[in-house]
Amino acid sequence: MRIVKKHRFNAQVTALELGYGIIGRPLMNVYCYLIGGTLIDCGQARMAEEMKSFASAHRINQLLLTHHHEDHSGNAAMIAKVCSAAVMGHPVTVHKMTHIRPILPYQHLVWGQSREVSVSPLPALVASDGFCFLPIHTPGHSKDHTVYLEMQNGWLFSGDLYLGERIKFFRSDEKIDQQIQSLKTMLQYDFEALFCGHNPILKNGRDRLRRKLAYLEEIAGQVRFLLARGLPEREIIRRLDRRQDRFVKLVTLGNASFANMVRSAIQAT
Ligand SMILES: [Fe+2]
Repeated sequence: MRIVKKHRFNAQVTALELGYGIIGRPLMNVYCYLIGGTLIDCGQARMAEEMKSFASAHRINQLLLTHHHEDHSGNAAMIAKVCSAAVMGHPVTVHKMTHIRPILPYQHLVWGQSREVSVSPLPALVASDGFCFLPIHTPGHSKDHTVYLEMQNGWLFSGDLYLGERIKFFRSDEKIDQQIQSLKTMLQYDFEALFCGHNPILKNGRDRLRRKLAYLEEIAGQVRFLLARGLPEREIIRRLDRRQDRFVKLVTLGNASFANMVRSAIQAT
């Protein structure tokens, strides 16, 4: 099943929702945002045709990447070519997008692989069409994760910083301590609307980030408590595991699981 939907937040922000499911409904839909001629993230390569139609029908001068994961960068090479758009990202994104590494089988099936593309390092501020995007490095989900704050309107384009308040799994390379710090960093800024990479546009963005921060701190605190009592990793995972990630853990061959969140909290102590 393929899902393509256009959403208008207001006269200035268009969201493109893209979903791809091999059998039945997609596991997770992706949201890309167009503000003036600035596109933030560009979806999975599996939906290249749909993104190409969108790109051909709109003016896209520049593409800002929140991070290199294939559901966010999958069509960057195509957008750069079709729209003659500049692609920009964190220095680690620059490296990752010019040194594409093999991806796991589930990533191939669900998202498809990104192609190499030249990415320029981000300036301190990205100004275009009367909008001003402040790039803020927010590592934890990935080393290069960067959010874009449109300060004049209080819009936060948050990539995968939010995802949900009580997330059920981490990828194996995610860092809970860095995510906690990144959420704290963002709560120092003023914004209202949250433009998440996998959720429709959300109001009360600061409250949502605050609740996610509380949840991650709760998990990290529980892990520290059990570690201090001398419990081994395996037992801590067993006690805290909410058993909600079995399907995802199976499909991803363990790359995404609740256990990864616990392991990350143990490493952070
Ligand atoms: Fe991601």
